Amino acid sequence: MNQKTDELDNYSQAGAKITPQGEDGGFHQSWYPIALADEIKPGEVQGIDFLDGRVILYRGESGKPYVSSAFCRHVGADLSVGKVMGENIRCAFHHWSYDVTGKCTHIPAGDDIPDNARLFVFPTVEKLGIIWVFNGEKALFDPPYFDGLEDEELEFKSSFLIDLPQDPWVLLSNSHDFQHLEALHDLIIHSEPSDIRQPDPYHMEADIIFEDKNFGRMEQFQRIFGTNILTLTGTMQGQTMCTLFGGKPEPGNKTRGFMCTATRKGDGTPEDETRVQMVLEMGEAFFRSLSEDDDPIMRVARFRNDNLSSSDWALAKYFEYVRTFPRAHPSKNFIT
Ligand code: FES
Ligand SMILES: [Fe+2]
Repeated sequence: MNQKTDELDNYSQAGAKITPQGEDGGFHQSWYPIALADEIKPGEVQGIDFLDGRVILYRGESGKPYVSSAFCRHVGADLSVGKVMGENIRCAFHHWSYDVTGKCTHIPAGDDIPDNARLFVFPTVEKLGIIWVFNGEKALFDPPYFDGLEDEELEFKSSFLIDLPQDPWVLLSNSHDFQHLEALHDLIIHSEPSDIRQPDPYHMEADIIFEDKNFGRMEQFQRIFGTNILTLTGTMQGQTMCTLFGGKPEPGNKTRGFMCTATRKGDGTPEDETRVQMVLEMGEAFFRSLSEDDDPIMRVARFRNDNLSSSDWALAKYFEYVRTFPRAHPSKNFIT
C-alpha cells in the first residue's frame, strides 16, 4: 500500500471528531503570536484578547516583554489600565503591584498579601519581530525558527495578515490541502511531498516544489509548529526565501493571523540592500495573494472532515495530528 491509501485508511478508522478550541481540555499547547514587537514600547501596557479571555502585554523599562492574565487578583480591575513600574505592573484601582513571576509584592494599604494574589504568567519570547506566548506553565518545544538559518543571519519583515472566524488549526490545514493549492490558488505542484514526517508530537514536516504564475518556482521545506504556525524555508526564483504564518486564537473561535518574510542579510552595498528589500516584498506579496484567495472561503466555511478523497491523504494525516495534539488550559481561572 502506498502512503496515500494508508493515511486515508488510518484516518477513517480513527474516527474524525476534532474538538473545537476551548472545549473539553482547552487549547492546543503551542506558541501563539500575541502582537507585533513594534506595537509596544518599554514602559507600555496593553490588553489583548487571547484564548477564551483577556491578557496584558507589557514591556518592562528594560524592554523585556511580559504577558500575564489581565485581571487583578484583588477585585478584578483590568491591568491594561495599570502602570508599568520598572519590570512590575501596578493595578490602577488600589495600587497592588505584581512582579515578573506574577506574585503580588506590594499592597500600599499595608495589609498582608493573600497567598492567592498571583497572576498567571505565560512563557514569553520576542522573535522575528513578533511576541510569542506559550499556552502552558512551561513551553513544550522551541518557538518557531527557519530551518538552517539563525535569526541573526536574516533580514525580516513582520506584519498583521488577517482576522478570520475559524480556529487557527483550520487555517493551517491549507498547508496540507494539495487539492486547493491547484484549484483555488492556481499553483502548479511540481513535486508533491513523497512523505509527510512527524518527527515528534509537536511538528510536521514536508518538502514541496511548486510554481506560481507571477512569482515563479519555489522549492520549500515546510514545517508546522503546534497547530497554528507554518514556516516555509527555501528559495523563490533562486533567492533565499522564508515565510511564516502564525495564528492567535481569540474568544469565539476566531483567529488573528500574523506573517513574517525573511531572507539572508545583504552584504551592505546599496545594490544588495535593494535586492534584499525586493525579495522581502515579493515574499510578502505572494503570501498576501494566497491569503486573499483563502479569505472568502475561510470567512464562511463550516468545517467538516467526513468525506475526504484520495488526494486528501496529506490532509488526513494533518487532521490526525491535530486531533491528538496536546491540549490544556492552565490560565482558565485567571483570564476569563
Ligand atoms: S482591583 Fe487591583 S488593586 Fe484592587
Ligand atoms: Fe490556501
